[in-house]
Amino acid sequence: MRAKRLILVVGMVIAMAGCSHVRMGLFLLQDNPSENDPDSVARGRVAFAANCASCHGTNADGAGAEAKDLTPKPTNFIAPSYTKTAARIAARITYGKGDVMPAFDGTLTKAEIWDTANYLRSLQKAGTE
Ligand code: HEC
Repeated sequence: MRAKRLILVVGMVIAMAGCSHVRMGLFLLQDNPSENDPDSVARGRVAFAANCASCHGTNADGAGAEAKDLTPKPTNFIAPSYTKTAARIAARITYGKGDVMPAFDGTLTKAEIWDTANYLRSLQKAGTE
């Protein structure tokens, strides 16, 4: 009886993986493959400049060239109030957010997504320390 219920629950989770909250949740179970790797942060800085700075700003302050025309505004990653983990950031980069923030799944590799998340996390730590 217990086993059947477990199979049912696991099946539902898999079936709902298309739903954004479940997808985000499942993503958070992953290990960061390049945590505390300074080379990852350096690669992430390059990927951010190429793919994200137009909206999020070269300094990641949310004031990119396209930002003034966008609603909602791109996130300011150096605001002291922004304290999300690399995993949460990586999940957002992968799946996007709302109508404006694109999903980079398929555009950037998994490694590049984690590098970019580690870069943003490193800025945030520098700001809060
Ligand atoms: C076309 C403009 C645009 C581009 C390009 C873009 N973003 Fe965004 N991003 C946004 C906007 C707008 C939001 C805010 C969405 C919201 O709050 O609903 C956002 C939100 C986010 C969030 C979620 C923040 C949070 O915790 O709520 C993350 C993380 C993020 N962007 C990272 C990136 C990264 C990394 C890149 C490049 C790989 C990127 N974005 C490229 C516009 C953009």
